[in-house]
Amino acid sequence: MKRDPNSQSYTDKYLRKLLSLSVDLIIFMRNFKVHEIAEVIYDEEIDDVAYNILFEFEVDRYENGKSIGRFVKVNDPIGKSKEKIELLSSHKLPIDEEGLKEAIFAHGEKVKFSSDYHLIADSDIVFICVNTPEKNNWDVDTSYIDSSIEEAFKYMKAQSILVIKSTVPVGFTKNISLLAGNLNISVVFMPEFLRQGNAYLDSINPSRIVIGVEDEKSKNTMEELFKNFTCPKLYTDFSSAELSKYASNNFLATKISFINQIANFANEVNANIDDVKKIMELDPRIGQGSLNPGLGFGGGCFVKDTKALYYQSEKVNAPISLIKEVINQNEKQKYLLLEELSNLYFGLENLKDNKILFVGYSFKGNSSDIRNSIALDNLKILSRFTNNITLYDPLVKDKIKGYEVIDDLKEGITNSDVIMIFTERFEINDIDRTCFQNKTVLDGRNILSKDIIPHLKYYFSVGRGKVKKF
Ligand code: UDX
Repeated sequence: MKRDPNSQSYTDKYLRKLLSLSVDLIIFMRNFKVHEIAEVIYDEEIDDVAYNILFEFEVDRYENGKSIGRFVKVNDPIGKSKEKIELLSSHKLPIDEEGLKEAIFAHGEKVKFSSDYHLIADSDIVFICVNTPEKNNWDVDTSYIDSSIEEAFKYMKAQSILVIKSTVPVGFTKNISLLAGNLNISVVFMPEFLRQGNAYLDSINPSRIVIGVEDEKSKNTMEELFKNFTCPKLYTDFSSAELSKYASNNFLATKISFINQIANFANEVNANIDDVKKIMELDPRIGQGSLNPGLGFGGGCFVKDTKALYYQSEKVNAPISLIKEVINQNEKQKYLLLEELSNLYFGLENLKDNKILFVGYSFKGNSSDIRNSIALDNLKILSRFTNNITLYDPLVKDKIKGYEVIDDLKEGITNSDVIMIFTERFEINDIDRTCFQNKTVLDGRNILSKDIIPHLKYYFSVGRGKVKKF
């Protein structure tokens, strides 16, 4: 059951812990490129929950829909980095995550934001949480983390611990630990399993804590640091911890591609995927989660982590071919609605006189992040055929150049001929049924209320069966 972050006991429990924080926390940002180093000074009584909020979560995930890394690099490196520090210092976050803002800024002066590497010189533990994007050849681009670590090593004191939180290729931490050994610094690898939109809740209530550690002293320190967490804690070697992150994300991605293929089949044989899914989920061996059919996975994690795992496995001649199929299937699934639209109109070029509304254009329903947005990939293609496209997504702040973005969904639906649902914008079900009269709805997330369907001219979903009415 989803926790209610506003409930008294929940807020009390965690805010009390946050406010009792007895150490300095510093989010450290480098001036050039965009590396962020989060650092915690570990002395007496550390509050695990409070620091975990900061370090489990990659604060630099995105700003205006772009990776801050790329943004800063392309534009004015020093200026932008400063801008972000100023933003954080004035108690604003560049991202929307329920509960995160209140949690971080509850510390007052104990949380500082800086780009000065000297600040880590006295620290016992330094966390690295930088982005590790993909390269064109599917390899992991470790340039941000490489240079952040290189820089951190210049300042870290002997006997301190470097904790890597970024998703890194299997074997990376071992190599870093060899370098660190020369400086008498220990290394730990701790993958994070946060979902965007739920990042704060996931970080204070994790399903498990994984600690890749290969020396006893650091293991004891980590044990102490996480002692307040009641979830399972797993201590393992570096490579297993690194692989556990890839294996988890790739398995979830596999579930998504699997259910999508089942859903596509269900459409053809008039089975109802909603029921099929429910029945599957009741088997505890299958479990819930990542079984919602749709237009495939987008966002900043699954897309890059599937490619990264396949690349790494192929490199050592143990290719995980199943993942290659998951990636291929995902690419096809993205354009399912366009394919249907093209069939309906005998070619996308015949759409010119029709007004099209995109409902949702972030990468998933409860996020404002537009990285790897499936809707925007579709927009790129559809805009070659028509400019008659309007966008709706109240969460996304980014406007898309050349397109009208509307706030009023009811008006948008009334004025459109074709409505394409890309993310879970459930408010569509609150709209007056008469507005749907004679509309074509292509529901890429299977969210439309069943009682709306009879009003439509045509309804297409991902496995709920096709409903035609001409
Ligand atoms: C994911 C993992 O869930 C998280 O554990 C990891 O740390 C980071 O990657 P995130 O990318 O934030 O988190 O989102 P998630 O909710 O998993 O969705 C990823 C993509 O898959 C989205 O595009 C979403 O729309 C799609 N999805 C998700 C489905 O199509 N069906 C589902 O059932 C779930």
